[in-house]
Amino acid sequence: MKNRVPLVAGNWKMFKTCPEAVESARQLVQRISDATGVEVMIAPPFTALAPVSDALNESNISLGAQNLFWEKEGAYTGEISPVMLVSAGCRYVIIGHSERRQYFGENDGTVNKKIKAALDASLTPILCIGESENERESDKTFSVLDKQIKNGLKDLVLKDLELMILAYEPVWAIGTGKTATSDQAQEVHQFLRSLLKKYFGTTFSQLIRILYGGSVKPDNISELMAMPDVDGALVGGASLDPDTFSKIVHHIGSSL
Ligand code: 13P
Repeated sequence: MKNRVPLVAGNWKMFKTCPEAVESARQLVQRISDATGVEVMIAPPFTALAPVSDALNESNISLGAQNLFWEKEGAYTGEISPVMLVSAGCRYVIIGHSERRQYFGENDGTVNKKIKAALDASLTPILCIGESENERESDKTFSVLDKQIKNGLKDLVLKDLELMILAYEPVWAIGTGKTATSDQAQEVHQFLRSLLKKYFGTTFSQLIRILYGGSVKPDNISELMAMPDVDGALVGGASLDPDTFSKIVHHIGSSL
């Protein structure tokens, strides 16, 4: 029996206009109002955060953003600060998603600044890490993840990290339909927990939630959640449809 409350987070990526996002949020509120023992978060695009926040009002679903910039304010055209996210109703923020690393030049250094800025604003960062197909095939998975953790969390100390959540998203499993098997996910999650134990101690390593992401669907979530070190999911494509996403949420709730 795990003592960590599972979290299922929907990353909507660059999908949904404001009206579409609000409609999806309303449908989700209805469908998962009865879900217990599981925390739920959705991360719409920036433009839809405030209206979706209103639609989620007094529901059991929290709001998250998909990115932030680390400065508080200033001449940074096109960027969004942590305090702006808080004022739009966000509690969570996804940081270092592989799509941001791949297409927008993010690296462990920028990820580190973003994690610190999120924590400073009392946002819960969901730090995304994961290896590419090439790295897995050349047996570099563990060393790549170690580097991402070490550099992404550089100069942070235990008391800063209470809020933090980790998401293991193997790049080869994102949007490809190729889910990691539950054994592959467990092997990596266990490794990540042992790394966190080495860097931050046993208590923290036992408390931190480690989500799995990459082609999570209603029909593979229960198997993944049965693994002792998998504490929930970061869901992309399958989070866009309220019906499919609510099935994932209910599977997690019923697998406890
Ligand atoms: P998919 O669920 O579409 O594979 O995306 C996973 C992901 O990137 C979540 O952040």
